[in-house]
Amino acid sequence: MIDVRPASQAMVAIVSRNEEAKDVVTLRFDWDVPATPGQFVMVWVPGVDEVPMSLSYLGARKGITVKGVGEATNALTAMQAGGMIGVRGPYGRGYRILEGKVLAVGGGTGMASLLPAVEAVPSAEVHTAIGARTEAELLFEERAKNASATVRVSTDDGSRGLHGNAVQLAKAMMAETRYDVVLGCGPERMLYHLHRLCLEQGIPCQMSLERYMRCGAGLCGSCALDGSRVCREGPVFTGEELKGMREFGKQRRDECGRRVRL
Ligand SMILES: Cc1cc2nc3c(=O)[nH]c(=O)nc-3n(C[C@H](O)[C@H](O)[C@H](O)COP(=O)(O)OP(=O)(O)OC[C@H]3O[C@@H](n4cnc5c(N)ncnc54)[C@H](O)[C@@H]3O)c2cc1C
Ligand code: FES
Repeated sequence: MIDVRPASQAMVAIVSRNEEAKDVVTLRFDWDVPATPGQFVMVWVPGVDEVPMSLSYLGARKGITVKGVGEATNALTAMQAGGMIGVRGPYGRGYRILEGKVLAVGGGTGMASLLPAVEAVPSAEVHTAIGARTEAELLFEERAKNASATVRVSTDDGSRGLHGNAVQLAKAMMAETRYDVVLGCGPERMLYHLHRLCLEQGIPCQMSLERYMRCGAGLCGSCALDGSRVCREGPVFTGEELKGMREFGKQRRDECGRRVRL
């Protein structure tokens, strides 16, 4: 039987727009519905398209943090305060935040999904690793510092922090601190290697994944990943769940349902 849980939907006005990093913008809007860290919403840009976006701010004034990569996301990053968008959701299973020492590892716009989880843990218990290609693309460093005991960064080109990627940074941090859980969000190749590192180190982990989505609500099957629906059973999966997934880190389906290598 299909489990259709009620979701809210509304047309909302953008109340603020903030440029966070190169080509990345946060849009805030008032929409007082309950949401948990790691959940996402379907965002309708009138006349353009509807796309999934993680909630980067929870509470009554919600937020999404968008990187322009195509038609809908470029239309969103171009929007100004006063512009109208449609939102429905929140959808999906977010992070199950556990007790103990947490390492949050975010790559690129993955920080948008992770920060509400970081902010839900007592700051003394959470360390954050932020990876980006270059310094200008580092996202939410100040906000992470306000919510974490330690924040470290890596850049692929060495312009800030560790010269390397977020998984190498996480490995260096694991050598100094024993973590009870690792939370990850970012490009899937990064998550694949982070998952392997966590298995090697025996640390439980949770990773937020992306797949092409249409309904966002568990009905159409376009977000299928090894028999799971990323919009319903995910987007956050535990390390144990990911262990058995053959498509994880290797392939996804495009908007026509064709398999595409990652
Ligand atoms: C649960 C979830 C949460 C997300 N959260 C965020 C977020 O917080 N911030 C953010 O900037 N983006 C987020 N995304 C990705 C975002 O939805 C896509 O970038 C967007 O749908 C692209 O639409 P477009 O019309 O701009 O680009 P298109 O013109 O449709 O596509 C541009 C490129 O992006 C690829 N693409 C399109 N959709 C996806 C997808 N779902 N996954 C991977 N590649 C895709 C296309 O194959 C193409 O190569 C999230 C995706 C999911 C599934
Ligand atoms: S997007 Fe339709 S089932 Fe997930």
